[in-house]
Amino acid sequence: MTQERWDAVDDYVARMLLEEDPVLEEVLRVSAEAGLPPIALSPPQAKFLYLLARVHHARSILELGTLAGYSTIWLARALPADGRLVTLEINPDYAAVAAANTHRAGVAGPIQIKIQPALDGLRELIAENAGPFDLIFIDADKEGTPDYFRHALSLSRPGTVIVTDNVVRAGGLADPDTEDARARGMQRFHELLAAEPRVSATTIQTVGSKGYDGFTLALVER
Ligand SMILES: C[S@@+](CC[C@H](N)C(=O)[O-])C[C@H]1O[C@@H](n2cnc3c(N)ncnc32)[C@H](O)[C@@H]1O
Repeated sequence: MTQERWDAVDDYVARMLLEEDPVLEEVLRVSAEAGLPPIALSPPQAKFLYLLARVHHARSILELGTLAGYSTIWLARALPADGRLVTLEINPDYAAVAAANTHRAGVAGPIQIKIQPALDGLRELIAENAGPFDLIFIDADKEGTPDYFRHALSLSRPGTVIVTDNVVRAGGLADPDTEDARARGMQRFHELLAAEPRVSATTIQTVGSKGYDGFTLALVER
């Protein structure tokens, strides 16, 4: 199995199951032109997240790692009219591109882009009593994931769903000798999950246009 085959299947799925979306294509084009790295969710992944938010009837969503706002727009589209979405981004240039993109997509209304390190943003949200959020999507720097997850729990309620992306790291997750700081971060994240009685979680391995990786789905139970 090759990357070429995984790309072909993602293209097939997008062609068959995702409607043509000139706005999102423009979002990706603008993002590339502005020099942002091509690390947004793939269209099938983003639609999965959108469907999850809809299945869960999420009215309040917290995202860590905005980039150009691609996943943010998908998530915002899943919100009801009175929904809200807070997204944290450390890079002000990326946040500016994301803000323009959310306007372009006509979903800027419920979105608050907080330009600050995720940990500071999380602490601020906790201090402001801004939770609980129905769905939390953790997709910022991977080394910080364990800390982000711990703080996300303080912004949760029983029933909150926490999705964490890029946890498998081409198998590095299961390599006890890995020296990759991001893979080690995801191992610590799994150790936290394993020791956390309030949460039930699983991790799904994926292949696709983003390579071999995976995500964790965690349900806050109490
Ligand atoms: C994988 S990208 C997010 C992709 C986006 N969720 C999407 O799918 O469209 C990760 C983002 O996290 C941001 N980031 C990295 N470290 C961060 C931190 N400490 N706090 C907040 N954001 C951070 C990066 O600047 C980048 O925009």
